[in-house]
Amino acid sequence: MASGFLLSSEQRARWMRFDTAQLLKRFFFCERSLLISEASWIPAIAPLEIKTSLAQFIWQSAETANCLRERVFELRFPSRLLEEEGNDRALIELFDAVKHSPSGAAFLLSVGRVLLPAVRDAYRAYLEASDFIADGPTHRFLKLALAEKDEQIKAFERWIDADISQSREGHADAVTWSNEVAKRLSDAGGVGVEPSSSSVPAGPLPGAKQYSIPVNPARDARFWPCRFYWPDIVDASYPYGEGIQLQLRSAISHLNEVWAIEAGGVMLSAFADVLPWDWIYNSARWTFDESRHCRMGHERLMAWGLDPSEIPLGTYIYESATTATESDAATSLLGMLYFFETKNIRHKPERRDLFHSYGDALSEHDMDFDWADETIHASYGKRWLKEVLAAQGQDPGAYDEIRKRCEAMVREYVGTVTSNEITDLKMVAARLLEKAGQFRRA
Ligand SMILES: [Fe+2]
Ligand SMILES: [Fe+2]
Repeated sequence: MASGFLLSSEQRARWMRFDTAQLLKRFFFCERSLLISEASWIPAIAPLEIKTSLAQFIWQSAETANCLRERVFELRFPSRLLEEEGNDRALIELFDAVKHSPSGAAFLLSVGRVLLPAVRDAYRAYLEASDFIADGPTHRFLKLALAEKDEQIKAFERWIDADISQSREGHADAVTWSNEVAKRLSDAGGVGVEPSSSSVPAGPLPGAKQYSIPVNPARDARFWPCRFYWPDIVDASYPYGEGIQLQLRSAISHLNEVWAIEAGGVMLSAFADVLPWDWIYNSARWTFDESRHCRMGHERLMAWGLDPSEIPLGTYIYESATTATESDAATSLLGMLYFFETKNIRHKPERRDLFHSYGDALSEHDMDFDWADETIHASYGKRWLKEVLAAQGQDPGAYDEIRKRCEAMVREYVGTVTSNEITDLKMVAARLLEKAGQFRRA
């Protein structure tokens, strides 16, 4: 029918500015929810590779979510509405539900085979259907996000396969859970790029287990399991050492920063609904940084040819926070990070210089990058401890008291060491030092 105006059948005009903002807002909430659940599961899953990779994925999600959020603001979506899921409530409630997965296997399956693929497909559909001319800024970061989703799914697939080969029994329950998540996702209309089909949340999933912060972190069984990972922690007369002893001690410290990844994940998740978006954005980066420090230590120890079964992997700092009576575990874990960052940072440049003098370029390199990260973390720690206190109706100025309380908690926990633990630990340390000495000569 002739309209008397210039018309075209171009697909470019499929989505108007407001439609685009609606979709990007949905993606923001999906990423936000995914990363909070991933963060909360870090302590409960044992393999080191999964812990460090989840830390990387939550950082990727936080970067994507931050770009989405900025873009939604640019599109002049009413800012009040960005705070709410709106029509996507049922969808986001379902995403939130995987935090309460009944087991690690169920969590891996529902995220790796259901939620992540749904987000990946939605990004692909968005990139195909949206207009690059009008929406170029979104295309740039969403293409990267799509590539990252592909990588994340591949990693989850690997972990799921490894998990199935270890325990077939638990797998059946995990499949039931994951199928239910898939069904609910389809009922809610999927992620996709279409208007949501239902905004009415469907309630808790059958078989859900209310999430609680793990008291004891799971440890990768390839390493030597312990609470205290080096003798100087429990025996003040044992030297931190120089030369090979310092090289080894420093790598063991880095590896044992696994506790900091776990602390980062727990606190990110615990305060996600209490603190503003910047909290999630900062603590995702913080958690990722700690996973890089942990990997630095792991890579150095492996490069020196040492055997994981002879390398101590401890739990004491995490457990100092979670087992202390009358302690709010999440606040204490944040306090622990702040305490250890500020306590150790002054030693780093001095150790970096020693490694340089040994010609150990790798330890020098790692220590120097670590130092740069820790400088950022010390400022995160102070800022966010204050904000947590304020949110809890306490005096924000009391952040240093939390730091002192954490120091006392660690002291108290170290006090529970048994003489057998000390004997075993000294034996393991001596054997490792001897091995390292042999490799030097080799
Ligand atoms: Fe660190
Ligand atoms: Fe740090």
